[in-house]
Amino acid sequence: MAFTYRDGALCAEQIPLDSIAQRFGTPCYVYSRAAIELAYAEFARAIAGRDALICYSVKANSNLAVLALMARLGAGFDIVSGGELARVLAVGGDPRKTVFSGVGKSEREIEQALVAGVLCLNLESEAELERANVVAQRLGRRAPVAFRVNPNVDAKTHPYISTGLRQSKFGVPHEQAERLYATAARLPGIEVRGIGCHVGSQLTDRAPFVAAVERVVDLAGRIEAAGVRLTHIDVGGGIGIRYRDETPQPIAEFVAGTLAALGTRRETLILDPGRSIVGNAGVLLTRVEYVKPGGAKNFLVVDAAMNDLLRPALYDAWHEVRPVREARPGIASAVYDVVGPVCESGDFLAKERTLQARGGDLLAVMSAGAYAMTMSSNYNSRPRAAEVLVDGDRAHLVRSRERVEDLFASERTLP
Ligand code: LLP
Repeated sequence: MAFTYRDGALCAEQIPLDSIAQRFGTPCYVYSRAAIELAYAEFARAIAGRDALICYSVKANSNLAVLALMARLGAGFDIVSGGELARVLAVGGDPRKTVFSGVGKSEREIEQALVAGVLCLNLESEAELERANVVAQRLGRRAPVAFRVNPNVDAKTHPYISTGLRQSKFGVPHEQAERLYATAARLPGIEVRGIGCHVGSQLTDRAPFVAAVERVVDLAGRIEAAGVRLTHIDVGGGIGIRYRDETPQPIAEFVAGTLAALGTRRETLILDPGRSIVGNAGVLLTRVEYVKPGGAKNFLVVDAAMNDLLRPALYDAWHEVRPVREARPGIASAVYDVVGPVCESGDFLAKERTLQARGGDLLAVMSAGAYAMTMSSNYNSRPRAAEVLVDGDRAHLVRSRERVEDLFASERTLP
């Protein structure tokens, strides 16, 4: 386990979090290299012996140090913007193992991706197919493409992170797929490569995931019968983690179900996991500014806020909060809402938690390795927190805390 108590102090691998707070300040994201590598290894083991590629989903945690670990492990990448592509290239990630997803790729982004030589553009509309064809021809190339097909499967997750229903903005409708592949195969600037899907995120049961793969496999057979060759099947990401008391099926079972659904199909299997690799490999370390007993509620006002971890405010997500110092005699415990300094009632990190706390104490908001820093903002002119990657008994600062001057450095007043 990456985050455990030793001698009464919560540690990241071998380093007590209080020493990290002292050295780098708070709020601060702390990641464990071992935890990231262990999760990746679970995927690697599950696909061993099969022609497959793990494309780590950069949106979950795009720190260069994390991407560099992934690249070194041989992972490819799943990206959704020119910005994410630039990050992958900056760490020497392999563009030929990079798939580019997203509903709104700009002309410039398609151009950048083709020039870099990505493995595939995951197209999400006919208009995007036309754009890719035009851009590729202008560059004298052929754009490698797949369609992300909307499998119309209910992922049974939070509606904001459920993406595979018919009414979703993502993917092309299942019933249009065959026509789109026939069109794509005729375009001079297009080279059909694969087919993809993604039903949603934080899935704890593999059934909807596997159901989507089955639908895609069925389509792949029909597309092939129509004379269009596919070289890969991208089944997306979405495997859930434990935040509270969820018991997600293990990665190996999601993959085994996928392999069974693929049956005798020979295409390369692509998986694009994000959260399941980094989610539980990080915490958000924060310090209690004030203990505020209220009329109806008690509050712990901490120095991290919704701008550092938006998930509770946006999805009503539950993150465990642990004290960095284990139970201490003489301090009363009480039920608190853990809230930040931002001027919004929605600015909370946790509600109704029984904690022992005094001003100055440190708390760790758990499971903050995914969709935490990457969804952060500067709301209320709050500089973004530092990021630290722990490797055994060493802590490395992998992103400095922003300075307030950075926040308005590119702003101008009227002359
Ligand atoms: N592939 C595609 C096409 C995706 O859209 C996503 C995530 C992934 C892979 C990675 O999914 P994962 O393995 O991480 O579940 N901000 C939300 C999650 C949004 C996920 C968006 N798409 C949250 O904090 O829960």
